[in-house]
Amino acid sequence: MLSPETILQGRYRIIRQLGQGGMGAVYEALDQRLDTTVALKETLFAEERLRKQFEREARLLARLHHQALPRVSDHFSEGDGQFLVMQYVAGDDLSAMLAERNGPFPQQEVLRWADQLCDALDYLHTQDPEIIHRDIKPQNLKLTARGQIVLLDFTHQRQTAGRAQPRRRSGKRTAGSLTSGQQSRAAGKRSCCRRVE
Ligand SMILES: Nc1ncnc2c1ncn2[C@@H]1O[C@H](COP(=O)(O)OP(=O)(O)O)[C@@H](O)[C@H]1O
Ligand SMILES: [Mg+2]
Repeated sequence: MLSPETILQGRYRIIRQLGQGGMGAVYEALDQRLDTTVALKETLFAEERLRKQFEREARLLARLHHQALPRVSDHFSEGDGQFLVMQYVAGDDLSAMLAERNGPFPQQEVLRWADQLCDALDYLHTQDPEIIHRDIKPQNLKLTARGQIVLLDFTHQRQTAGRAQPRRRSGKRTAGSLTSGQQSRAAGKRSCCRRVE
């Protein structure tokens, strides 16, 4: 674990740890060059093959631009870890928000979040190669102060030999914790979601 004030790459100063997973941790850090807060996702790898895979993923994520996805600006290796530098998304995750409430979220709000999420999935699924997130769950969704849903955690993503054009899917394919059918039902019959069925 990296302690606060640790400086990586002579540029990123660790502020605090945000989370801890099996393969590493996520930190809030200050990018001293640009004077902005970033999130550093650390992954600890022993194998060269996995390091290469991480590098490919970082390059792929850096190409993505969507308001419901964190922007990736850099990646590097230091010590035993590989680091992905991302836009820091302030706010709570939906799991923490749900735990604080006494009841479910208002339906209208959930439908709005589902629309935003489906648009992000449509964007991912129409990349070439196609990107399947495979771990959509409340813990990996954050809500910003402006009411924008952001999908985090591409650890389990898969890239498939993609076709660049959007198309309809069979209901059999799964995308993380939700099947594509569940994703569609979650968002009702809204047009943006029909494209990711
Ligand atoms: N870009 C980010 N901005 C702010 N917090 C983040 C960011 N990425 C991850 N986190 C936080 O770090 C924690 C773990 O991140 P995650 O990517 O889901 O890793 P894990 O693989 O450990 O589940 C979560 O609490 C999440 O909210
Ligand atoms: Mg996660």
